[in-house]
Amino acid sequence: MGRLHVCDHPLIQHKVTFLRDKKTETKQFRELVDEIATLMAYEATRDFPLETVRVETPVTLADGKVIAGRMVGLIPILRAGLGMVDGVLKLLPSARVGHIGLYRDEETLQPVEYYVSLPTDVTERELIVLDPMLATGGSANAAISILKGRGCRPTKLMCLIAAPEGIKAVQEAHPDIDIFVAALDSHLNDHGYIVPGLGDAGDRLYGTK
Ligand code: PRP
Ligand code: URA
Repeated sequence: MGRLHVCDHPLIQHKVTFLRDKKTETKQFRELVDEIATLMAYEATRDFPLETVRVETPVTLADGKVIAGRMVGLIPILRAGLGMVDGVLKLLPSARVGHIGLYRDEETLQPVEYYVSLPTDVTERELIVLDPMLATGGSANAAISILKGRGCRPTKLMCLIAAPEGIKAVQEAHPDIDIFVAALDSHLNDHGYIVPGLGDAGDRLYGTK
């Protein structure tokens, strides 16, 4: 079973509260998503292996640790996942970025695929899927299945806010995926929205609707 990591550092909790607030306008919302993504990337890279290298300080030789050649790919689920990309790239600047376009049918709540574009060397990379919202889990599961179907190696899913229903759905469909969330909320309402949640992440990021 993939592990669930709730990244509840005080800085993350503080920023998530302002993200939820409906008075938070688009500009600040976008900045908060970016900042929380950076803080979560710090947690999500904690298991990266290190190797020892020798460097010469102005004083003497010293052994230090560096990340051991990890090749990472970031896969935002469009649209809202795009808001997390730059924040993660601040810590993983060499990562390549692929895009999966999915929207959730408002009636059925089923994900509809409309775009897939992946880096040429994507199968050689460890992939982190990005989406601020994990509601029913349909979109995340579809994105992970698309990647696996193309011979890729998704290992982590990073979301800002999750419902228990979404966590359960991903853990059942993809038990090999570690899930990182900034907040685990109460439940989904009758329209498939996370409660208390933050509303529609894409609309709040881009000022639509
Ligand atoms: C939102 C969100 C997730 C999905 C979550 O996207 O960004 O992708 O809903 O819901 P689920 O877990 O029930 O699938 P949306 O479909 O609103 O598209 P958008 O990002 O283009 O606004
Ligand atoms: N998508 C969102 O943007 N918000 C929700 O609460 C659920 C799905």
